[in-house]
Amino acid sequence: MKQEKGLKWVKADLLERFMKDVFKGLGVPPAEAAVCADVLITADKLGIESHGVSRLKPIYYDRIKDGILSPRTRFEIVRQGPAVAVVDGHNGMGHVIGKRAMELAIRKARRCGIAMVAVRNSTHYGIAGYHALLAAKAGMIGLTGTNARPSVAPTFGVEAMMGTNPITFAIPTDEKFPFLLDCATSITQRGKIEVLAKLGQKMPKGWVIGSRGEAKTDSLAVLNDIIAGTAALVTVGGIGEEMAGYKGYGYATAVEILSSALQQGAYMKMLSGRDAKGRKIPYPIGHFFIAIDVAAFTAPAAFKRTAGAILRELRASKKMPGARRIYTAGEKEHLALLRARKKGVPLNEETQREVLAMREELGLSKYKFPF
Ligand SMILES: NC(=O)c1ccc[n+]([C@@H]2O[C@H](COP(=O)([O-])OP(=O)(O)OC[C@H]3O[C@@H](n4cnc5c(N)ncnc54)[C@H](O)[C@@H]3O)[C@@H](O)[C@H]2O)c1
Repeated sequence: MKQEKGLKWVKADLLERFMKDVFKGLGVPPAEAAVCADVLITADKLGIESHGVSRLKPIYYDRIKDGILSPRTRFEIVRQGPAVAVVDGHNGMGHVIGKRAMELAIRKARRCGIAMVAVRNSTHYGIAGYHALLAAKAGMIGLTGTNARPSVAPTFGVEAMMGTNPITFAIPTDEKFPFLLDCATSITQRGKIEVLAKLGQKMPKGWVIGSRGEAKTDSLAVLNDIIAGTAALVTVGGIGEEMAGYKGYGYATAVEILSSALQQGAYMKMLSGRDAKGRKIPYPIGHFFIAIDVAAFTAPAAFKRTAGAILRELRASKKMPGARRIYTAGEKEHLALLRARKKGVPLNEETQREVLAMREELGLSKYKFPF
C-alpha cells in the first residue's frame, strides 16, 4: 500500500484512550470498552491498519447506532465438558467474547492439555491474532478462526458465499516474538480494500472476480459490488486450479464449518446482515478457539527452542535474487510494534475525519489530535 500525503502518526495510547471512551459513550461497560479498544489498537500497533482505528466507525460505532450490535455482552456457556465448551455471545461485542472464549480454552487446556471453545451469535472479533496471542502469552499454542459476511467465491464460482475466514496460529518461541500466522483464507480481506478505497487506490488484478469472470480493480466499487452480488473475493492460490486456488477454498470451507457446525450457529449467507426486505440485521458470527498446552507434551523451554530454531533456519536460508531478507510469520508485526512504540500509528485522512466526527458526536473534546 502506498503511503499517501495527509497521513498522520498518532500516539497509540492516546488513540486507545479515545476509543475506550467512544465505546463507553456507546454504552459498552468500562472494562469491556477497554478490551474493545485494546483489540483495535493492538491491530494498529502490529501494523494491521485494516483492522484498527479505521474499523471503529464502520464496523462498531455505526452498527451499535444501527441497533444491530449489542454494546452489552452476555457471555453464556451453553454446554461444556472438561476440555470443550459452547458459548452463545447473544450478539454482544465480539472482541470481549473472543477474549473470554480463548481465556476459557486456556484454563481448560491447563487441566486437559488441549481444549476447544466454539462460539455462536458473536459479532466481528477484530484481528484473529489478538485472541491467538493470548494463548502464546500463556505458553500455549493458540489457534482460532472465524466466519464472516459472505464475500468469497468457491473455486470455479463467482458468487460471494463464504467470509474471508481467517485461520490463525500463535506459537511461543525462544525469540523476542512468537510465530504469528494471522491472515484470511482469501488473497485479500475487506479491510485492506476499505483502506485502499479510503486512499483512492486500485487493487491488483486477481484479488476479485466479477460475475462474468472478469478482473475488478476499483476498490470502492468492489466493496459495493460484493454487497450487490456482482463481485467476489478470490481464495488464496488464485482464480481456478492453476495456482491451486482450491487450497484456499478448502481452508476457508474448513473454517466455515468449524465456526458454525459444532456450535449450531449461522453460516455463509445467514451472515449477510440483511433480512428478506433488505433491512439491517445482526451478523451472528461464529468463532472457534483452540489452546494446546505445550507443557503437556514436552518441556516448554525445549519446545520454544525447536520452534525458534526452525524460524531462524528459514530466515537464514538462501534468498531469491533481489530479496533483502526472508521473514517468518509474526516478524513484521514485531517490527511494526517496535515502530509504534517510537513513532505511534498512522491514520489516513478518511480515518482522521471519522475520528473527528465521533469526537464531536460524543462530546469528547478533551482529546486533541495532531490533525
Ligand atoms: N474478524 C474477521 O472477520 C477477519 C476476517 C479476515 C481477516 N481478519 C484479520 O485481518 C488481518 C489481516 O489479514 P490478511 O489476510 O490481510 O493478512 P496478510 O495478507 O497481511 O498476512 C499477514 C500474515 O502474513 C505474515 N507475513 C507477511 N509477509 C510475510 C513474509 N514475507 N514472510 C512470512 N510471513 C509473512 C504476517 O506475519 C502475518 O502473519 C488479520 O489480523 C486477520 O485476523 C479478520
